[in-house]
Amino acid sequence: MPDKGAFPHYMLKEIFEQPLGLRDTIGPRVSLEDAAIVLDDVRISAEELRALRRVNIVASGTSRHAGMAGQYMFQELADVPVDVDYASEFEYRNPQIGPGELTIVITQSGETADTTAAQREAKIKGSRTVAISNVIDSTIAREADGVLYTHAGPEISIASTKAFTAQMAVLFVFALYLGQVRGRLKREQRRKWIEELLELPNTLETVLRCSSDCETLAERLHAVQDFLFLGRAIHYPIAMDGALKLKEVSYVHAEGYPTGETKHGPNALIDENLPVVIIATRDANDPGSLLRHQKSVANIKGFKQQHALVIAIISEGDEEIRHLADHAISIPQAPELLLPILEIVPLQLFAYYMAVRKGLDVDRPRNLVKSVMVE
Ligand code: F6R
Repeated sequence: MPDKGAFPHYMLKEIFEQPLGLRDTIGPRVSLEDAAIVLDDVRISAEELRALRRVNIVASGTSRHAGMAGQYMFQELADVPVDVDYASEFEYRNPQIGPGELTIVITQSGETADTTAAQREAKIKGSRTVAISNVIDSTIAREADGVLYTHAGPEISIASTKAFTAQMAVLFVFALYLGQVRGRLKREQRRKWIEELLELPNTLETVLRCSSDCETLAERLHAVQDFLFLGRAIHYPIAMDGALKLKEVSYVHAEGYPTGETKHGPNALIDENLPVVIIATRDANDPGSLLRHQKSVANIKGFKQQHALVIAIISEGDEEIRHLADHAISIPQAPELLLPILEIVPLQLFAYYMAVRKGLDVDRPRNLVKSVMVE
């Protein structure tokens, strides 16, 4: 088992190892000089990839949240329709998949029984499969047509952190690759994305500076028993994962919800006793993102009228939400499709410090195991 080094817990160490995990996962697969993505291990011909009708992403827990973010990446960069499923539910909906489709299974451990069963089901139905795993030669990797390893390094803490950001990064690289093979991305576009990707680990390093801010927030809120986490579009899976981290390591009830859905029910719950954590970042170069941001501003105003405590994850320079929210944590500017990889970091740190403040066994939360090997 790797050493914890100077860190008190593996979870904190692994959160801080994320820039390295991103570098190792992205670096070997991109060439800035050629403006090209190189993915030899996909092992599915370019001809088949060009003819793909649909991509299915199947995973459990945090890995499924990565898949949900991946859905936006594939649809935007490779122009291919994507469905995302819970591995544990996959077989029950009699998935209508078959030849001409690709099923991507994502699992940090590579041994999750629900996910390996879903992969087998997809293969029986004639779909090609690509596994994304952090463990070399794991069961899922051995059974897949192709495999894309995340090079996050061993993840010891039960809560998945560095594997999650590496999964999103490899999904992004895969989406770029599909866009390249299918002729959807011009050389100049690819070059621009590769530049952004190569910069991402450095940007994540900057985000880690919010650690003490997250600790202060946890100190202030450690006694709260319920939280609502909100996000729109590609940020919704990040809200889901922020809530999951808080649940599993600090045993605090937290729900992840799409921001716009609050009006359809949860608003009845929102008052001074239910803090709202809202992801309200924006990409200044993306009109769609700016529109979503303005909708989030309106939502926050509504939550304040209902006397909720609002904690917002914002983009640097967003004075509007900084003034509206009770607490704002800012992250550097980044393209909309890459923001999720940054904005999960303060939520991981918040969950970690909440658990520490409560004196809990952060790395080994009760009733959980690292690899869920039974269905
Ligand atoms: C959450 C967490 C779990 C796992 C899930 C799938 O922090 O760790 O939700 O993500 O059990 O595990 P893998 O990715 O190994 O299939």
